[in-house]
Amino acid sequence: MALYSEKVMDHFRNPRNVGIIEDANGIGEVGNAKCGDIMKMYLKIEDDIIRDVKFETFGCGSAIASSSMATELIKGKPVSEAMKLTNQAVAEALDGLPAYKMHCSVLAEEAIQSALEDYRKRTGKEG
Ligand code: FES
Repeated sequence: MALYSEKVMDHFRNPRNVGIIEDANGIGEVGNAKCGDIMKMYLKIEDDIIRDVKFETFGCGSAIASSSMATELIKGKPVSEAMKLTNQAVAEALDGLPAYKMHCSVLAEEAIQSALEDYRKRTGKEG
């Protein structure tokens, strides 16, 4: 069996939603101290809907594939749904990741949660 699923390879080679959003209203940046990978998420939220999402990932192939898939999973969704996104959901959508690469999907979950928290802070929707 191949180590990485075709979906992982596809999202690694052809990542969706790469870049930055100039007028983002939620930005989150997280890193993993062990591997040194860094992920930054930009959200453009209007009427509680994720209208646009982009990412920059300085990291391994699984981190890039995880960020790409995570953006696809939350784009166009309500904030409340994005808040429930888990790394397991990202990994499942990628048809799995090797166990020692699961932390790469955790980074994607954390980056999105951090961007959502930034949005809540900016809009005073904290609570
Ligand atoms: Fe650390 Fe992939 S090896 S995010």
